Parts: sequence; structure tokens; C-alpha cells
Amino acid sequence: MKFQPDRRNFIKSGFAGLTAAALFKSGVSLSNQAPFRLTASRGQFVFGEDQENPTQVMYYNQSIPGPVIRIPRGREVLIPFHNALDEPTSIHWHGIRIDNAMDGVANLTQPPVLPGQDFEYRFTPPDAGTYWYHTHMRSWAQLAFGLAGVLIVEEDEPPPVDQDLVFAIDDWRLDRQMQMDTGSFGSMHDWSHGGRLGNFITVNGETEKTYDVASGERIRLRLLNIANARIMNLLFSEPRISIVAIDGQPVEAFTPEAGRIVLAPGQRADLIIDLSGDPGSSSQIELVVGEYAYEIARFVYGPKARRKQLLDLPVELPQNPLNKTALPTDFKHVPLLMQGGAMGGMRSATYEGKQMDIRELVKIGKVWAFNGIVGMPSDPLFRVKRGTAISLDVDNDNSWPHAMHIHGHHFVHDRSPGIWRDTALFERGEKGRLQFIADNPGKWLIHCHMVEHMAGGMLTWFEVS
Ligand code: C2O
Ligand code: CU
Repeated sequence: MKFQPDRRNFIKSGFAGLTAAALFKSGVSLSNQAPFRLTASRGQFVFGEDQENPTQVMYYNQSIPGPVIRIPRGREVLIPFHNALDEPTSIHWHGIRIDNAMDGVANLTQPPVLPGQDFEYRFTPPDAGTYWYHTHMRSWAQLAFGLAGVLIVEEDEPPPVDQDLVFAIDDWRLDRQMQMDTGSFGSMHDWSHGGRLGNFITVNGETEKTYDVASGERIRLRLLNIANARIMNLLFSEPRISIVAIDGQPVEAFTPEAGRIVLAPGQRADLIIDLSGDPGSSSQIELVVGEYAYEIARFVYGPKARRKQLLDLPVELPQNPLNKTALPTDFKHVPLLMQGGAMGGMRSATYEGKQMDIRELVKIGKVWAFNGIVGMPSDPLFRVKRGTAISLDVDNDNSWPHAMHIHGHHFVHDRSPGIWRDTALFERGEKGRLQFIADNPGKWLIHCHMVEHMAGGMLTWFEVS
């Protein structure tokens, strides 16, 4: 295997001919009778083709990504967690409108789970859909090391499909020996720019994975961006695609323009694909980086067609309780000014109650601010009574895109009415409103899901009483 020193080529050779390193488990189903245990630990994982050359990772149940957990909607599940790491951690259930005590934010909703300790996660997911779980401590290192997995909340009556596939797409930074690049953890350059971007893309922990399909099949494909910071620009060559859910929530089915789907870190999309290729053919899913496109997965059609005539599009998912929420026209407006980063022109900000200039802030790695405050403020951004309609008026006043994530709630981005999301991408200079009803009591984070930006100060919280 030959690697070129320049990163683009490295990405390219990373995609060329590397075979699967670990088997991706197709999912464990949970009922409330049988608790499913998660254990976080350090371990070894092979990214390249050389089985003798593993690198260090952190993972759940010794799997990269962690096991796909399938749970029923509207029923309580128990997930006992054991921390076998040598450092504290916690698990956040991204996108679930969860009980605050189970949200998994270390030092806000629970104490960190110390090495050797256990924590019992117990919650009832109100909405069906595609979610994920990941560490919520030192995620700039722990998430980059691999602590993430997929959480599927099953519909009471799922739409009939021939296959239900999961693509958890991740981005790793490896050195030329295919070892985790640990020297760059905490790099101020990453933190002040676009976050920790990798050079090795995996789908379900594998590169260039092929999936066996048949002509005429209808598949459901659950796409997740579980990377630290990379915005995934995906390109499908399959023509018959409908997007039926976004960030877990059903939407009116629509066809992505020119086969392109953009997922910011943390975002998901559920697709229904009617496979229209000929028996024996294949189609690819590519990641677009600048002017290059790299194949990350491929559908390989078997010699026999499943059906002659494609099923009729579109398909609709059953509505979630959330879809019945009506937003009012009157909101409590909360401005959220996002500043900082390289080429951002931020001169000073407040950190732990002290006004500091940018040079001091850079020294302590705090380079991103919400409303002039860097890092987790002691006072919430807002405190409201349960049921208050909030409009978070975001102004992304810096040189970088950001993926705004709100815990415990879904919101409607005014740019795309009718679509409930939990993570919204703001391009540089973009303004927009995230509107929701603060109806889940507790203390909830708001942060950029480019986790280096969060670590660099881009986080705040609100309280619902
Ligand atoms: Cu997916 Cu606060 O996180
Ligand atoms: Cu950001």
C-alpha cells in the first residue's frame, strides 16, 4: 500500500482497495425485559488491510462504530453502561426528546461516569426514527477515538422495505502508518478553523464496502454523519431516491436534487431507494471533497431481479407525536451571536466572568463565543416556563460553518418550514431562526456539533421549569 504525503492523495488511497476491518453488526433489538449493556473501553482496531497493524481506539462493546441498538417507540428501555476506560465519560442519546436526567451531559445532567463505574440509562423514546449515541465528555478526543453508535427507534408499523440499511459515516485522522493521529488532539489550529477533519472515511467502520441488492428492491437507508467536524457532501448515482425523514423525524417525501445530500456533523437522513439498475450492474455513493469525489460505498446488483416493476414512490413514514406540534406565530426571541475562530475578528470575550483579549483566550484554547461569552456560562442563555415558544435567532458572524444542536428538543429552522430537526447547519455569515416549544423540563445544552468548536467555547444552555 502506497501513501502520498499530501492529504488529498492520502484520502484517495485510503479509499482504494482497503478491505473491511471489522464486521458491522446489523443491530440488536431491545425490549424492556432484556436490558442491553454498553461498555466503553480502549482497544485496537484495524483501519487498513493489514490485520497485523491495528491502532488504538475507544469503542462501545469493542465495535467501531458501537452496536446498532434498535428499541421500540414509546416503551421504556434500560441500558446499563459500564465505563472500562481510564478516564471519565458519559453517553448522550442524540436527538431523543429524553428525560433530562438521562441526557448524558457530564456535569450538567449527571456526574461524569468515572473509570470502573456504572450508570443506568433508562428512558422512553417518544418518537420513532434514526438517532445516535455518543460520548459527551472530552468529545474532541473520545469521539475522534470512536465512541459513537447508532440508535434506531422503531416505528410501531414500519413501512415495508426489502432491506433496512444503516450507513454511519465517520471521518478519521490517521497517519501514514494507519495509526490514530493522536499528536494533533487539541490542536489549536483545528479548534480555531474547521475542527478536526480526518483523511480516512468509513461507512460502518469500513472502507469501500459493497452492499448486495437486487433490481426492483425497495431499501430504506439510514444515513448518519457521526464525524467530529466534517460536513459530508454525499452524491448518489441511484436516481430513485426519496428523503422520508430528517434528524429522525418524518418529512413529506422529496427527491434530493441531483442525488446530493449534505449532512453536517450530527445530522441524519432516512432515504427510501427503489433500485432501478439492471441485474449485474452497480451504483455508488460518493463523498465530494472540493472538486474530487471518492467512492465510500457501492450497491452491487445480483443477477436476478427482485421485481420487474418498481414500487410506487413516494412512501410516507408514520407521523411521530412531535409532528402534531403546532408552532405559534408569537415567540420569545433569543438572539445567539456566534463569533470567533480564525479570520473572525473577535478581539475579546468573557470567560468565567472575566473579560479577556483574544491572545489570552487562544492560550487557554477558548476561541469561540456565543453572545460574547466563551465556554459554559454559569447562567443559562434563557430560563423559561414549560411550554414557552422560543425563537433562537442565530447570527453566524464569523468565517466558518457551524452545526447548531439543541438538546432535548427538535426545532424548525425558518429556512425549511415543516421540517423538525435537532441539528442545523449555518454557513458562514448566515442568519436563521430555530423555533421550538420549550416543553421538556430540565437543563439543556445548545452547542456546535463540530466538537472542537464546542470544546473551544461554543456552548451554552437553557433551563425549562
Ligand atoms: Cu450529539 Cu451535545 O450532542
Ligand atoms: Cu462550529
